[in-house]
Amino acid sequence: MSAGNDPDIAAAAARIEELRELIAYHNRRYYRLDDPEISDAAYDRLLGELRDWEERYPELVTAASPTQRVGAAPLEKFTAFSHPSPMLSLANAITEADIRVFHNRLLAGGNTISYVLEPKLDGVAVNLVYEGGILVAGATRGDGAVGEDVTHNIRTIAGVPLTLADGATTEIPARLEVRGEVVIATAAFRRLNREREEAGEASFANPRNAAAGSLRQLDSRITARRPLDFFAYAVGIKEGGAELKTQWEVLAALKAWGFQVHPFARLAESIESCLEGYRSLLAQREELNHEIDGMVLKVNELSLQAELGSIFRRPRWALACKFPARQETTVIERIDVQVGRTGALTPVAIMRPVRIGGVTVSRASLHNQDEIDRKDIRLGDTVVVQRAGDVIPEVVKVVPGRRTGREMPFLLPASCPVCGTAVVRLPGEAAHRCINIACPAQVKERIVHFAARGGMDIEGLGGKMVSRLVDAALIKDPADIYSLTAVKLLALERTGEKSVGNLLLAIAASKNPPLEKLIFALGIRQVGESMAKILARHYLGLKELADADADELTAIRDLGPEAAGSITRFFREPANKRFLAKLEAAGIAPVNSLYSPSSPTVGSLAGKIFVITGTLTGMTREEAKHRIESRGGKTTESVSKNTHYVVAGASPGSKLEKAQALGISILDEPTFFALLETP
Ligand code: IVH
Repeated sequence: MSAGNDPDIAAAAARIEELRELIAYHNRRYYRLDDPEISDAAYDRLLGELRDWEERYPELVTAASPTQRVGAAPLEKFTAFSHPSPMLSLANAITEADIRVFHNRLLAGGNTISYVLEPKLDGVAVNLVYEGGILVAGATRGDGAVGEDVTHNIRTIAGVPLTLADGATTEIPARLEVRGEVVIATAAFRRLNREREEAGEASFANPRNAAAGSLRQLDSRITARRPLDFFAYAVGIKEGGAELKTQWEVLAALKAWGFQVHPFARLAESIESCLEGYRSLLAQREELNHEIDGMVLKVNELSLQAELGSIFRRPRWALACKFPARQETTVIERIDVQVGRTGALTPVAIMRPVRIGGVTVSRASLHNQDEIDRKDIRLGDTVVVQRAGDVIPEVVKVVPGRRTGREMPFLLPASCPVCGTAVVRLPGEAAHRCINIACPAQVKERIVHFAARGGMDIEGLGGKMVSRLVDAALIKDPADIYSLTAVKLLALERTGEKSVGNLLLAIAASKNPPLEKLIFALGIRQVGESMAKILARHYLGLKELADADADELTAIRDLGPEAAGSITRFFREPANKRFLAKLEAAGIAPVNSLYSPSSPTVGSLAGKIFVITGTLTGMTREEAKHRIESRGGKTTESVSKNTHYVVAGASPGSKLEKAQALGISILDEPTFFALLETP
């Protein structure tokens, strides 16, 4: 049936189209710009409405619809995918001299050459195919000619546009291959591993393995929950659309179509500036959000690229300038066992110190018994160590040739090394756990977590201090922190009046934390900092959160059933109820500035979006925001077509001009105040 013949279906198609565009726009604001304009609840309503329409008109469902992002029923197996054009690999350079040789060889052809420099992202290369601007396929590289079809998983990645943006400067090609790298940011990688360890699952060795493992899931609902990112760096086949003459124009076009291009990418007009770029990228390596293993040098002119061609599947016009490996060998001298906040036992290799990439490494987590067994790590072994995913060192493998026969296999102890309670391994979990919740190690870690930055942020209450306080029986749980007094603290050895005074001030100052920090500080399993923020957006206070049931929680975007179960279990637990009551009695009263209620139909400004610009004279900006929100409105930082009102104070900025251009209502201060007073 064609949408044109039936007026109902035509109207549905129009609304569906509109909803998809709106959702794509808000996705970009949320994921790409980190600046959402609407609440999660409002976003969910858009998605819900789209789902309703699609249920009524299944013939209008397309693979590119955002309703398909959450993942679909699992596949039986992967199918092979023949790349429309081959995915090449890169020739490597190890030293700066290699880079000069590459350049000189190109010069010998009489060419003047400019280059594009790009980071060599250490993730999983994929090929995306768009037809008429719609994503129709996504596949792994495989051998370059044939890869695996992972379209169902690719669709779940927020950074992959399901439809190409129709930029003013770039027409959409009829057919287009986009090449790029699926990666996981180092911070997200650490979070993912922490959550996996807390849930008793095996952790990933590095971000690349995590990205690869996430992409090779038959069940795309699992992929959808992994923090995958995508950076585009090349196009393959391109039929139609404006002609692109240089790699630099390719990157600009990719950006205009809605892809993320790595911000480091730059032009270099000389070999010296290439080498300078290489050194500067190497120097920035540790600060980048994603793992990179080198820099890619590409001839900028596409016509020159075509002329140069490729040899042995490697283009003559590109070079991977590798960074020095961050691997060394050393010897495992000891394996310590740490007991974490959740009772999980973590074996830690204590190694002969070795310098890797400018940092001295002497400890590496061995994660759990399975990991030790799989790698067959023994005491006294010579091992290869690397720094992966930020600064966390990792034992890659044993060097068996260096074994003397005196190495000793290692088994985690049968009882907790701290409290002596029997250690258990629950079915389905990789971790061995001490199940004594009163175990001093767990108690200490819970308190440290509570007081740490990101949580209640109490300066002066780090691991050492907490340990002394627990050992002296001054505190048994995080709430006891608030019963500490100068007399009690001064009774401890090595405490001075000044440090005691500072600590008590810091404790007192922590009593009205932002709600999301308190939620994080509670140490609920599966609830990290970002999850805590999401919860604070949906629940005004702890009481409201404690009353939420699992169904309600699962309905929240980005919150899976495991986290929902963990949250409801936490608040049902009698010991936790007593603990929360104790916190309340101690005067802990969080404030919530993130809350955006799911039913913005209350209040005189319900659903209205405000932007404030310039200086207000009658109240502070914070106060104005608060008063807008308390009437059901919302404030955002930037003006867009979704903005309802722009409040212009004295000497307003460019936001005012933008509002005028978009025809948005502009309120001066007296009119704004009058609006606030309107019942
Ligand atoms: S261009 C002919 N650009 O490196 C062009 N590749 O050995 C080939 N890679 O499997 C790809 N960052 O996964 C290109 N900015 C970048 C890259 C990049 C990482 C990877 C890619 C590929 C491998 C090539």
